[in-house]
Amino acid sequence: MNVLIVGGGGREHAIVWALSKSEQVEQLYCAPGNGGIAALAQCVPLSATDVDGVVAWAQTHSIDFVVVAPDDPLALGMVDALEDAGIPAFGPRADAAIIEASKIFSKNLMAKYHIPTAKYQTFTELAPALAYIEAEGAPIVVKADGLALGKGVIVAQTVAEAQEAVRSMMDGRKFGQAGARVVVEECMTGPEVTVLAFCDGEHLVPMPSSQDHKRAFDGNQGPNTGGMGSIAPVAIPPSPNYTPEVARRCMEEIFLPTVAALKAEGRPFQGVLYFGLMLTPDGPKVVEYNARFGDPECQAVLSLLETDLLDIFLACRNGTLDHLNIRWKDGAACCLVLASGGYPGSYAKGLPITGLEDAGQQAVVFHAGTKLGDDGTVFTNGGRVLGVTATGPDLNAAIDSAYAAAGHIHFQDMHFRTDIGRV
Ligand code: AMP
Ligand code: GLY
Repeated sequence: MNVLIVGGGGREHAIVWALSKSEQVEQLYCAPGNGGIAALAQCVPLSATDVDGVVAWAQTHSIDFVVVAPDDPLALGMVDALEDAGIPAFGPRADAAIIEASKIFSKNLMAKYHIPTAKYQTFTELAPALAYIEAEGAPIVVKADGLALGKGVIVAQTVAEAQEAVRSMMDGRKFGQAGARVVVEECMTGPEVTVLAFCDGEHLVPMPSSQDHKRAFDGNQGPNTGGMGSIAPVAIPPSPNYTPEVARRCMEEIFLPTVAALKAEGRPFQGVLYFGLMLTPDGPKVVEYNARFGDPECQAVLSLLETDLLDIFLACRNGTLDHLNIRWKDGAACCLVLASGGYPGSYAKGLPITGLEDAGQQAVVFHAGTKLGDDGTVFTNGGRVLGVTATGPDLNAAIDSAYAAAGHIHFQDMHFRTDIGRV
């Protein structure tokens, strides 16, 4: 099969890497791809949000299957457009991807189907939102309704901070149309866990639990980023918190009810459903849904997959996930992100990277923001540059291997956290 993957970050490199091991794949293409993906797939210079361009290109290049990985094209209806053009595609249609694209939709869905989540109110006007915050008190959480590059959530410690956040979203239009409507919700407490799940519209198969590290600096300090590292499965010292018992509760109270709810609403979800969970003193609750693999959770989780990923994607697309036995490696994985100095603020691009080959002996180095030079040199080309991903018999071994491998890599002002998997 000729397979096209849409996207060009570390997550897409991990998907391309896993698909490249499938015997069914003849040729892989990636739009737009990056400097590392280019070693495994032919990169196509199309933007990941160019719906018409991707459909037209797939039609003229005998593409048998398209994997749409990022949130924006899913929300724009790229899967709908491909399927309507007769090209099978992996990912939810826009009417199901709305579970990520609209927080108001997802909160209302959870309320209707009794799926545990933070208590909330939604607002389309400023004055009632300000009054609600005043009445509820702090800490309190303010969320822009739409996609805001992961930056539309403010966990406010004071009433004034929450009111300022609502003002900047609704009046200042800090996130454009995405912030025209807001959710104000109760601040929950507890460890956070991500569970990604394959879905075929009716059935759901959870992957190993995982954890992102969103803050830029050690000790979960500093500004939020796209993710500075990940581990899978989750076992935070001193004791693992995503126990089999917690997993069973999540399956019964959250995962299966969510898939059933979307089906009942006439929006069957096919693709990867991302459950952002908080293990609160009252039990597991949903923080957020995404309609795709998380980045960098994907890199850690897929490095543990044993089953052919193309078989899984096709089963999701064809509604036959229940016929498949998905196998995972024992042990654990760690993805350590190497970022440009200054990220998530401004940073330089075009810096040469050394040591990739040596690092590759110990770990898989997924590229996120890189570009390939004419002479084969790899240059930095983004905030998150590389995701050094290692597996091991246990979490400590995986973490140690990822750090040892990263020790070979150098570029000017390289920045990474030293505590991935340890906080
Ligand atoms: P999101 O962009 O929706 O993933 O939210 C970003 C982060 O904000 C989450 O990973 C949580 O750490 C935090 N957060 C979101 N909603 C809540 C909530 N209701 N209570 C506490 N923390 C939250
Ligand atoms: N790692 C969080 C996300 O991809 O949204």
